[in-house]
Amino acid sequence: MDLEDNVFMLPGPVKIHPRILREMSKPSVAHRSPEFTEVIRETRDLLKYLFGSDNDIALVSGSGTAGMDMAISNLFGKDDKVLNIDNGKFGERLGDLSEMHSNSVRLAYEWGKPPDLDQIAAELEKGGFKGITLTHNETSAGLTNPAKEIGALAKKHDVLYIMDGITSVGGLEVKLDEWCVDIAIMGSQKCLGAPAGMSALSVSEKALEESYPEACYYLNLRKHVEKLRDKSQTPWTPAVPLIIAMREALLMLKEEGLENRIARIAKLGAATRAAMDGLGIELFPVREYASDTVNAMKYPEGIEDAKFRDILKKKHSVIVGGAQAHIKGKVFRIGTMGVCTFTDLMACIGAIESALKELGFQFEEGAGTGAIVEYM
Ligand SMILES: Cc1ncc(COP(=O)(O)O)c(C=O)c1O
Repeated sequence: MDLEDNVFMLPGPVKIHPRILREMSKPSVAHRSPEFTEVIRETRDLLKYLFGSDNDIALVSGSGTAGMDMAISNLFGKDDKVLNIDNGKFGERLGDLSEMHSNSVRLAYEWGKPPDLDQIAAELEKGGFKGITLTHNETSAGLTNPAKEIGALAKKHDVLYIMDGITSVGGLEVKLDEWCVDIAIMGSQKCLGAPAGMSALSVSEKALEESYPEACYYLNLRKHVEKLRDKSQTPWTPAVPLIIAMREALLMLKEEGLENRIARIAKLGAATRAAMDGLGIELFPVREYASDTVNAMKYPEGIEDAKFRDILKKKHSVIVGGAQAHIKGKVFRIGTMGVCTFTDLMACIGAIESALKELGFQFEEGAGTGAIVEYM
């Protein structure tokens, strides 16, 4: 088995294009040198393109969770009331972070179901909230949350809107200014298809003003934003090779065009669902909210998670995701982010048909790959 032959369809990290991998083998550069300052300046500007907003950027050497931690810990203190919408693993994480730093009120919903907008509106009506958090694309359940509608509620009640866009920014339609998002977070190893280990925040003026300047040291929001804005640098030594690779991934995204990439991912996501329908495999989330960057499916009766993914990996070099927490073993996930192609998806679905057949599942052979051909 050669890792280079893998068809890598995880919900992140995702396939890294060789052009991006090559960037990481470049010689070391000093992080305060003019050469690297130029890399950061370009990365910052490309991140604004990725986020689709001219808001300030914080570039963090740390995975998506570091970005989430930065947002919550800098914006909210013990006396600040924060409303957390939780319908999956990552909504839960924003809730846990908020509980650690603030006075958190959590509205939890069943995984795979959208949140109740009326209930959220009613909670905000009670008043006194400083912020609201939402996971735009709930990767754990393959569900895209109604970020625009939550934004309208945040605006109405004048609360800071923190949106985890870790599997949506660069893969799904995201309108930060229109939706009144104060902080959006992205992660390098997801829709961008860059190596894992970096995250970035798009930060509104209001968020910066209402942040606590001395909330924390390493993940200090103001320090990061100001240093990047004024000096095209980061406060501390950043992950230099990861940023160089990230810049290349951003350049590739710009060459494709953000809208084209989103349209391509939408097509791959819908084609995945068409294939699953053809095979008679049920979606996990409510269909209307199914995500185009990550599809989550229920295992048919009798198909064991470990065996299924083992056959895919060992016999076909196809890597798909399992699930977490209470749906572990019951659900599998296919990611179609970044530079994932039609050919990758065909190989993945072909291998899934083969694995299902080996495990004795009854279906019409070729119905999955056929549905993709039909759809595309
Ligand atoms: C929606 C979402 N938020 C947050 C995270 C956490 O990001 P990381 O694992 O990069 O820390 C993930 C990772 O899968 C995610 O999908």
